[in-house]
Amino acid sequence: MFIQENFSLQAHNTFGIAAQARFFVTVTNGEMLLEALAYAQQHHLPLTLLGGGSNVLFTKNIEGLLVQIANKGMVVEKEDEDFVWVRVAAGEVWHDFVQFAVKNNWGGVENLSLIYGTVGAAPMQNIGAYGVEIKAVFEYLEAIELSTQTKKVFDKTACQFGYRQSIFKQSLKNQVVITQVVFKLTKRNHVFNTSYGAIQQVLNEKNLSPSIQNISEAVIHIRQSKLPNPEVLGNAGSFFKNPEIPTEQFLQLQAQYPQIPNYAAEIAGYTKVPAGWLIEQCGWKGKKVGNCGVHKDQALVIVNYGGATGAEIWAVAEAVQQSVAEKFGVVLHPEVNCF
Ligand code: EPU
Repeated sequence: MFIQENFSLQAHNTFGIAAQARFFVTVTNGEMLLEALAYAQQHHLPLTLLGGGSNVLFTKNIEGLLVQIANKGMVVEKEDEDFVWVRVAAGEVWHDFVQFAVKNNWGGVENLSLIYGTVGAAPMQNIGAYGVEIKAVFEYLEAIELSTQTKKVFDKTACQFGYRQSIFKQSLKNQVVITQVVFKLTKRNHVFNTSYGAIQQVLNEKNLSPSIQNISEAVIHIRQSKLPNPEVLGNAGSFFKNPEIPTEQFLQLQAQYPQIPNYAAEIAGYTKVPAGWLIEQCGWKGKKVGNCGVHKDQALVIVNYGGATGAEIWAVAEAVQQSVAEKFGVVLHPEVNCF
């Protein structure tokens, strides 16, 4: 096990923030993970876990030991005529798994193409896009419980999935390390999800029928046209969650702003409104503050033009939150994990 000291995290977070970890180790298998956990315990080091770094904002250096989960492997666990169960290591890149599924013509994750990050991080925040959330294809996951260092299995119910939410962000936050995830994908009779308007539009424009491959390509096309590529412009996708507000409050806003977009929320009596719209209405879209700012094509994305610190990005996020609270009386909560 190779533990590095005062390690730069710049290449390990898609915001490109030049924070450091006091101690850093990459683990590629279960044995190394246990060794790293034991090391942290022996040396009384607080532990931080990292996947692909695509949903984090480092506002300061990380004290203690930062463990990067980088185990690999995608195997068919079992299959029948209709379904295939694929076991994927937590350290695999999410989009590599999507491409593996698409190439094999297995259905279920094509709408989730080109989401940055690792497979292990995906169930933590129940990643979702273009009408599909990971919970639709999730079968179970394996994790190591930190307090006992033993393996635990979580089925779908145990994960308590919600909108960008799971038990791993709530009561089990920093309590377990996800090591393997099993997905159930379709082999035939796949029901395509083109309910998200733009997908159907792209298929029509290109004169393509819905297929796993074509939907994946349409989603990649839509994402590339709206969302900045973190390799070019540092960002972590949506910075905030779309707020779910009491429907009564929504109706008052709608009376004032009749064009306000809205969706059904998960909780009865609540309505979801797109944070991107609220932020744009406050005049933030495309606004630059020093080395960072709000993206010109998607107001929900905060970008690092180069050289911004995490604290500077956080200051922009707070200013955005304040504007939206003042104009609409709506509180925005970060979707990105801030350290
Ligand atoms: N909108 C604006 N201005 C903007 C951005 C959006 O008015 O600058 C409006 C759009 O016109 C539309 C609505 O807001 O009416 C929704 O916009 P969009 O379809 O772009 O999606 P979103 O709600 O902003 C969510 C996810 C994205 C996901 C897309 C597509 C969250 C926090 N974000 O964004 O996920 O790709 O839907 O399904 O739920 C991510 O989590 O990192 C992410 C990119």
